Amino acid sequence: MAKYQFAKRVEGIQPSAIKELLALGADPEVISFGGGYPDPDLFPLDKLSGVYQEVILEEGKQALQYSTTEGLPALREKIIKRMAHIGIECTMDEVMMISGGQQGLDLVSKLFINEGDAIICESPTFLGALLSFKPYGPKFVSVPLEADGISIDHLEAALKENPNTKFIYTIPEFQNPTGVTMSLEKRKALLSLASQHNVLILEDSPYRELRYEGDVLPSIKSLDTEGRVIHLGSFSKILCPGLRLGWVVAPAEVIGKISMLKLASDTQNSTLNMHAVNRFMDKYDIDSHIEVLKQTYKRKKDLMVENMRTSFPDAVQYTNPEGGLFSWITFPERVDTVKLMRETLAEAKVAYVPGLSFFPTKVENNHCRINYSYMPDEKIEFGIQAIGRIVQNYFK
Ligand SMILES: Cc1ncc(COP(=O)(O)O)c(C=O)c1O
Repeated sequence: MAKYQFAKRVEGIQPSAIKELLALGADPEVISFGGGYPDPDLFPLDKLSGVYQEVILEEGKQALQYSTTEGLPALREKIIKRMAHIGIECTMDEVMMISGGQQGLDLVSKLFINEGDAIICESPTFLGALLSFKPYGPKFVSVPLEADGISIDHLEAALKENPNTKFIYTIPEFQNPTGVTMSLEKRKALLSLASQHNVLILEDSPYRELRYEGDVLPSIKSLDTEGRVIHLGSFSKILCPGLRLGWVVAPAEVIGKISMLKLASDTQNSTLNMHAVNRFMDKYDIDSHIEVLKQTYKRKKDLMVENMRTSFPDAVQYTNPEGGLFSWITFPERVDTVKLMRETLAEAKVAYVPGLSFFPTKVENNHCRINYSYMPDEKIEFGIQAIGRIVQNYFK
């Protein structure tokens, strides 16, 4: 049998919790609060079916052909308008389509990370980002996340201690996994520190448009006057993740290089999907679609939080996010959420993501991430009450 000599960069890469959980989510029996799945009942199936048919019949010869690596110009123009609406001024050579925000994380890593470079991450942070950064051999530096975003004091110390920092990775709105949003003061302080230490900021913003409470805050990119912020957006949570369509906004020099790396990786996004989404946005008002998503997710979030309030012991804390798809539960330190999930699965077929996967460096075992967008109302109630019942036993 062949003995594989894998490249050094994949040493230590383990099967991820995300992969296992995506598999779990596919079991219809399991009440899965695990994945970051949008509610599939909200996918605009009829409208998409119509636009795909029109695209193939009316412009199939272009829509099924190769196109440019940067993506369909008409769709990029629409992104430019949407970005302008949130204060990000960009031109055609400063925006390109990518296969979801996830590809942006990989391509930005490939472009910037040399082995040993420090990458500063919120702790906890998005597991998928850690998976993207890791093969490029960075030194992960964790900065604690507080109720209003990254700790600025710790960030300052981390930047001083790590002069070889390449970028700070942040999810400013309804962070994955915690649901936390960064305050305006902290956005400004973060930008100012990044400028002082001459590091980049990677702003990952797939949930921004899913705000259903509180005040809209400027994106970090919109406050940037130095070309220091790379901004990632995605259609995954506002339309459908299966389209694999996202975008990156960055200075033209950076986009030029990302485009070369994307060419090497997958040539381009699906021409057909780009045409379909472009036509969808021409024919329908995507913002009214997003309104419906927001109403549904707010209802589900309120239902989940209310059930946590009535079912969980007082010693258990949870975030009450203003948008996005996740809440973060913190149990007393003696509760190990991996063990707890074995019980919730065995007794009630309830799954979540144990929090340990989201820590870039020092792991904490007493948290979990709970998604409220995917499950129907009755399963949210049943699942949260089941977790509450099981965890009550820990307090007897
Ligand atoms: C913070 C964050 N970034 C990026 C992604 C990747 O999303 P996609 O590649 O579907 O755009 C996700 C997905 O859940 C996410 O939560």
